[in-house]
Amino acid sequence: MAFDIDMIKGFYAQLGERVEAARKIVGRPLTLSEKILYAHLWDKTPTQAYTRGADYVDFAPDRVAMQDATAQMALLQFMQAGRPKVAVPSTVHCDHLIQAKVGAAVDLAVANKESKEVFDFLGSVSNKYGIGFWKPGAGIIHQVVLENYAFPGGMMIGTDSHTVNAGGLGMLAIGVGGADACDVMAGLPWELKFPKLIGIKLTGKLNGWTAPKDVILKVAGILTVKGGTGYVVEYFGEGATSMSCTGKGTICNMGAEIGATTSTFGYDDSMERYLRATDRDDVADAANQVRQHLTADPEVYANPENYFDQIIEINLSELEPHLNGPFTPDLATPISKMKEEAVKNGWPLKVEWGLIGSCTNSSYEDLSRAASIAKQAVDKGLATKAEFGINPGSEQVRYTAQRDGLLGTFEKLDATIFTNACGPCIGMWARVGAEKAEKNTIVHSFNRNFAKRADGNPNTFAFVASPELVAALAIAGDLSFNPLTDTLINSAGQPVKLDPPAGDELPKSGFDVDDPGYQAPAVDGSKVEVAVSPTSERLQLLDPFTPWEGTDLKGLKLLIKAKGKCTTDHISMAGPWLRFRGHLDNISNNMLIGAVNYFNEKTDLVKNQLTGDYGPVPATQRAYKAAGIGSIVVGDENYGEGSSREHAAMEPRHLGVRAVLVKSFARIHETNLKKQGMLALTFANKDDYDKVREDDVIDIIGLTTFAPNTPLTIVLHHSDGSQQEILVNHSYNSQQIEWFKEGGALNIIRKSVKA
Ligand code: F3S
Repeated sequence: MAFDIDMIKGFYAQLGERVEAARKIVGRPLTLSEKILYAHLWDKTPTQAYTRGADYVDFAPDRVAMQDATAQMALLQFMQAGRPKVAVPSTVHCDHLIQAKVGAAVDLAVANKESKEVFDFLGSVSNKYGIGFWKPGAGIIHQVVLENYAFPGGMMIGTDSHTVNAGGLGMLAIGVGGADACDVMAGLPWELKFPKLIGIKLTGKLNGWTAPKDVILKVAGILTVKGGTGYVVEYFGEGATSMSCTGKGTICNMGAEIGATTSTFGYDDSMERYLRATDRDDVADAANQVRQHLTADPEVYANPENYFDQIIEINLSELEPHLNGPFTPDLATPISKMKEEAVKNGWPLKVEWGLIGSCTNSSYEDLSRAASIAKQAVDKGLATKAEFGINPGSEQVRYTAQRDGLLGTFEKLDATIFTNACGPCIGMWARVGAEKAEKNTIVHSFNRNFAKRADGNPNTFAFVASPELVAALAIAGDLSFNPLTDTLINSAGQPVKLDPPAGDELPKSGFDVDDPGYQAPAVDGSKVEVAVSPTSERLQLLDPFTPWEGTDLKGLKLLIKAKGKCTTDHISMAGPWLRFRGHLDNISNNMLIGAVNYFNEKTDLVKNQLTGDYGPVPATQRAYKAAGIGSIVVGDENYGEGSSREHAAMEPRHLGVRAVLVKSFARIHETNLKKQGMLALTFANKDDYDKVREDDVIDIIGLTTFAPNTPLTIVLHHSDGSQQEILVNHSYNSQQIEWFKEGGALNIIRKSVKA
């Protein structure tokens, strides 16, 4: 299934040599994270020791994975690159566009109808360009990747922040924007700031009600949602090796919630068991040959304080089950303290829904542990007080869980089995009554619990927990229920207690599946037609952006001077706009509508210099474009922070904005602008931001001699006839200057393919 054992064997064959070269150049024993990073250098052999948290380094990832919402623009861009096939093994997974409503069969049929054109497009592009395609219902991207593609010591990127899940199988797997995925599929290097390292030592052993989920819920409480930013988190210790592979996946998955670049574990017996159970004896055998390179050097874990930037130690034997939330995944409350905290904070105690699933917790082990609780409830005469829903992680998990009676057990408790897809986790949940916006509590085994995330109701208090605890709370219907100590009253009026969960790490009779939902690409895709209707409102083929005209840019209108925070969400909003992620012209109608206009403190209201009227930003820019006039966007500090979505750079480019001039950029957005052929400039003197007036006409001078480390000049022509000149800096290297000149990086790739 687009799974390349030869590639893995080839990589392992060189691993020892590469690790040794890295060890020599770094001059000390290496962590696992460093081994994987140095083994994936674009230039293969390390020539210098990189400074963590400082050096930008080019890497060569082994794989790319894309989910259906983000794959659209990634693949539309890839089509522009002119390559006949992807350069590295890649897959597309249809999991985000399926709403949970009445149950799997009906919901899947509805999604297949409603998003048919998107699925058809993704299927045909995949077929054409050698990309493995996982159809709607096949499963959630990260479960499917763990089951089929992840391998110890590998590096992958994916267009989804929970790509990090594959760390459970000893990878470094990192979430990126579609432009990065496009580059790697086109055969270009992928750049990353060499990360800093957090080591987390797990001692003791999980027991009773405590699950792998509780490890990461505890870590989130310690590090908070920002604590992992710029770090790879590496877990080790007896607690790590005693845990299942999918449990490790859960922990790595929620590393995204602490902002970590990614998380990983060293190769161990649990990973070997998982590889063999998922029909990959060949990978397990190959990994066993290089076992010592797939974990840190022994000295590292013996004296971690010498090798990590930060160390945390957690004793699993003492760890309590946690409930994190509401509204943020780092508000960690041990179950024994929940009653007190809930009452103190006025959190609604009645649990309305318990949901098990998401890429975080939808493995066979997860379902089996939760089912053991459900079975006890049935046997002991209990029913669920809350509603109960399950999204299995993949068709393989669903089929096996059905065969083994796990789903039947859930159904005896009136649970609804939803599609093998994201569903409520991404807000694709037709929850009855959510529109009433009533204050209520839900518990789920997902990773994120921000306001409105699951059901759109800002008053839903969502708590994150392990699947087994979710099952217990759905039965109790009470947030303050502590299954370790409390009893419930059964249908005969007797008090009963739930025993701790018991599950199977892997199915005793092995995994089984009838149709996994995979479509292999055509061997020769050259004749495959890509299906995009010219009248579609959701998909639009891209046209190449036009190259630079070879002159200075004169007479640009100021489109907006944005004040304060301007994230990629302000530049290209999500929510209802998600629908248009594959249609550049339609989604451009959200361009900068969240940015605050410096001159009137309003959003989406700027002066049209052609008419003097005020109007929405996109409409104003379209008026300039129609008149053949370029424009410029001015911004404040850290412009473009937030998600790496490339739409925030493509929309202004598409609508004719020529330059973005700010006090400072968020780096990924700055790179995205450069890739799209835009000018990304910074004030040499930040106070010059104040000189920009609402009806300025602006020239950018110096482009005919555009060179690295050479500032450009901007002339502000004020409406009173006066003018001011200011210096502006840029960070373009000579390659990036070529991107600008050619109208975008993709134009260069296409040229190189033709040459
Ligand atoms: Fe899907 Fe939620 Fe994971 S949206 S990919 S299940 S975080």
